[in-house]
Amino acid sequence: MTCDLGISLDGFSAGPHQSLDQPFGDGVGGGEKLHAWMFDHGDDHADEVAAIVDAGAFVMGRNMFTPGRGDWDLDWKGWWGDDPPYHAPVFVLTHHEREPLEMDGGTTFHFVTGGPEAALERAREAAGERNVSVAGGATTINEFLDAGLIDELRLHVAPVVLGVRGGVRIFDGVGPRGLTATHVRRTPEVTHLTYRR
Ligand SMILES: NC(=O)c1ccc[n+]([C@@H]2O[C@H](COP(=O)([O-])OP(=O)(O)OC[C@H]3O[C@@H](n4cnc5c(N)ncnc54)[C@H](OP(=O)(O)O)[C@@H]3O)[C@@H](O)[C@H]2O)c1
Repeated sequence: MTCDLGISLDGFSAGPHQSLDQPFGDGVGGGEKLHAWMFDHGDDHADEVAAIVDAGAFVMGRNMFTPGRGDWDLDWKGWWGDDPPYHAPVFVLTHHEREPLEMDGGTTFHFVTGGPEAALERAREAAGERNVSVAGGATTINEFLDAGLIDELRLHVAPVVLGVRGGVRIFDGVGPRGLTATHVRRTPEVTHLTYRR
């Protein structure tokens, strides 16, 4: 199982108070502070971008799928339009049940209330021989890291200190562990770091 996450130098993947207007929360703008490398320099990072969506199934937290909280707004179909970039089953962790949502291009969102192990089991079954990827956000990734379920962690570190009080950070609540650094690629707009457990 792999995991990709864009973070700041101080470890944040999102700020507080996520909303429709601020998908990444306060202090992160529209995400460009973390993802300019992807938005503005995509050709220079084509391999890393391709790897992010190279999986047979995905797992994500509900707050990556929607700014909504509590009961579902059934009109909400994700941030990505009719044809999301996953082209595979996506298992969304949530405490609120919802029927599967089939989109164009092979992406179907399944809503899983049984926790990370249940989501992973369903994702592995759906992916067959292919990889399962945890897409985010950091809250969900930290649960998988703490449970020791992530084989390869790929952090994309933007050279910015966000300093967002109340934001979400990678490794928060994750017990002590060592990781093996397997790859690094430094560019002006991002440093790509790969670790294996
Ligand atoms: N920097 C990046 O690369 C990146 C990547 C992805 C997302 N993001 C940003 O990060 C933010 C979202 O990340 P986040 O860390 O705040 O939240 P998240 O991990 O996306 O979602 C957390 C939510 O998922 C549900 N959930 C998580 N674990 C669960 C469990 N064990 N059982 C049942 N439900 C569970 C809960 O939702 P309910 O209780 O409400 O059902 C929980 O509040 C957004 O601003 C997004 O735009 C950034």
